[in-house]
Amino acid sequence: PARSLTDSFGRRITYLRLSVTDRCDLRCRYCMSEAMTFLPRAEVLTLEEMAAVAEAFIARGVRKIRLTGGEPLIRRGAPELARMIGRHIGNGLDELTLTTNGTQLDKQSAALFEAGIRRINVSLDSRDPERFRHITRWGDVDKVLEGIAAAKAAGLRVKINMVALKGMNEDEIEPMLRWCAAEGHDLTLIETMPLGAIEEDRTDRYLPLDAVRADLARRYTLTPVPDRTGGPARYDRVEELGAKIGFITPLTQNFCEGCNRVRVTASGRLYLCLGHDDKVDLKAALRTGGPAAMADLLDGAMAIKPLKHAFRIDTRDAAPAVARHMSVTGG
Ligand code: GTP
Ligand code: 5AD
Ligand code: SF4
Repeated sequence: PARSLTDSFGRRITYLRLSVTDRCDLRCRYCMSEAMTFLPRAEVLTLEEMAAVAEAFIARGVRKIRLTGGEPLIRRGAPELARMIGRHIGNGLDELTLTTNGTQLDKQSAALFEAGIRRINVSLDSRDPERFRHITRWGDVDKVLEGIAAAKAAGLRVKINMVALKGMNEDEIEPMLRWCAAEGHDLTLIETMPLGAIEEDRTDRYLPLDAVRADLARRYTLTPVPDRTGGPARYDRVEELGAKIGFITPLTQNFCEGCNRVRVTASGRLYLCLGHDDKVDLKAALRTGGPAAMADLLDGAMAIKPLKHAFRIDTRDAAPAVARHMSVTGG
């Protein structure tokens, strides 16, 4: 069998995050600028090429693939892509998942389930209509809540992603936890990361999650539970609510020592770390190079995967640590 992908620090790469499109139908203020430049359509891989990327990684030992964006479900044919990749579930691939803003879930949940997806992560930073509209610039929270309900009805397990934003949604963390517990969703809180220029300084919105967790621990019994998703979150069971809460803490507690993942952009660039610009262009190998060329590129990429990101909270965000936006690599 082909060699597995192991980086120069001995970390095995078993998780691929595949960005289906860098475009999005929303413009969350902490994520994107109002005036974004997206990839020219000619540079974007076809769905067949994306499926070929997925297969190349599965052949090298990747067992979990997450479709990301931008917003993956606004790309025409996204469910077909899921179906193409979903064929490998049980045959090399353990899990195909998706991270979405939820605006298309009312229409697409059933097709995603049919493709083999069983678990999705939905971004929801507020359940208040006005506040949601403000954060996303024009989003309709009812549409997303309908989408989440449709996903649940279609048999998908839902995890809510909430970026913790000072002065914006910190007062909603506990209500969100209670709502998630009542609905049967898990909740993951995320620290805002300095990727890509936006209209405001993210430092002003930064909410350290160690403090948030300590605050919750005064009101609830939090019991750490082992992570089974292979993602960066650390989880606690909230005993009184029977819910699970995750914390993604790139700033207060670095988790890079356990990194198992790489990212491929919609234009076929392999990024080795969310917090660095090191990348390898897979497009030419994909189009004309054949399997040997692809294998060589992946081996070369492993040699340059950085040890960890260098996000810091004690510097202002005037020039973000990483120039590209989260939406280029799907987070
Ligand atoms: P599961 O654990 O499988 O549920 O997924 P996940 O939490 O890894 O995926 P999701 O797409 O929901 O991402 C949640 C947040 O984690 C996003 O803000 C990502 O940018 C962030 N994230 C995922 N992987 C990394 C990583 O390697 N480094 C950093 N700094 N953040 C990451
Ligand atoms: N910092 C932290 N999380 C972010 N996301 C988007 N931009 C940022 C950022 N700068 C989140 C989205 C989504 C996930 C993929 O990443 O809200 O839930
Ligand atoms: Fe779009 Fe997601 Fe970024 Fe919001 S966080 S602008 S929904 S890609």
